[in-house]
Amino acid sequence: MNNAGIVGLGMVVPDKVLTNHDLEKMVETSDEWIKTRTGIEQRRIANDDVFTSDLAAAAAEKALQDAGLKGDEVELIIVATCTPDMYSPSTACIVQHKLGAVNAAAFDVNAACSGFIYCLSIANQFISSGQYKNALVIGAETLSKVIDWKDKNTCVLFGDGAGAVVLKPVEENKGILATHLGADGSIGKHLTILGLALEPQEVEKRSSDNPRTLWMNGSEVFKFAVKIMAEASLTVLEKANKTLEDVSLIVPHQANIRIVDGAAKRLKVKNDKIYINLYKYGNTSAASIPIALCEAVEEERIKKDDLLVLVGFGGGLTWGSAVIRWAK
Ligand code: UT7
Repeated sequence: MNNAGIVGLGMVVPDKVLTNHDLEKMVETSDEWIKTRTGIEQRRIANDDVFTSDLAAAAAEKALQDAGLKGDEVELIIVATCTPDMYSPSTACIVQHKLGAVNAAAFDVNAACSGFIYCLSIANQFISSGQYKNALVIGAETLSKVIDWKDKNTCVLFGDGAGAVVLKPVEENKGILATHLGADGSIGKHLTILGLALEPQEVEKRSSDNPRTLWMNGSEVFKFAVKIMAEASLTVLEKANKTLEDVSLIVPHQANIRIVDGAAKRLKVKNDKIYINLYKYGNTSAASIPIALCEAVEEERIKKDDLLVLVGFGGGLTWGSAVIRWAK
């Protein structure tokens, strides 16, 4: 059977903008520090009554419209998120209901910032095996709800948003040519959002009264990220029998410009081959790659038959990469 390809895209970010200057009034930081150490200038923050499923459904509606597909024609919905509305039902089931996608199977995947690539890979298996004729893959987060707003080490980094894609079988040698996924749970302790197990040593790390906030050992994640982004890009290209010379654009997880630059240096790739929009949105975790993909298409940085590499890393710790021959 043929590979899945992206035939529709959509994205949303909340209207509320939180600038670096706004953060200067909240924690001991500066616009200068945030810009030089991360590249981020602003991020979007969801209102108190807006949750991940709301952003996910709005992005999905746009992707369905772009693909010319109705809600009840969707066969599979997978949502990548580490900030679900609830433990149960899954965010994907809430989205299914909002879309009237009564014929779709629906489930969530938590691979943190690598989640969208994990979901692309899963959906590609279902489509290329012939089990489903289409799939809706969404990366959506409201990280602002788990941020410790007193912790300058993390609160400047993250933002909210959602990106969605519709996948369908495409012509031979097009669409998702290869994916590569990985995880190393032994270093998961470097980036945590607590759930039911409130282990005292984890709770102690939080400065906030709320133990269920995000905590990160930034420098450990940074070192891991630079190395794994380069390695995962090369591994997936090898799987697809392609080289970096064949690639038109790399769409990386938008965490920190210094991580992207570090990985680009290792790969000896020029910056104009890498798509960046993190200065506008910060790190939106599972939403970052689909949002970047959407904007790259809107800006005509991606054309039919271009070869793309998507690559991400995140909590778990996890990583994932994909090679796509653009078929839209
Ligand atoms: O999607 C996966 C999620 N994770 C990431 O992508 C994050 C990966 N890590 C990073 O992006 C970087 O490690 C950070 C941006 C978090 C930090 O940059 P760094 O160059 O690794 O800085 P550092 O952790 O080595 O800290 C340097 C200093 C510290 O002060 P001292 O101890 O040297 O006096 C921090 O307290 O910078 C201080 N600092 C800040 N200063 C002003 C940390 N955050 C801030 C801040 N404003 N917001």
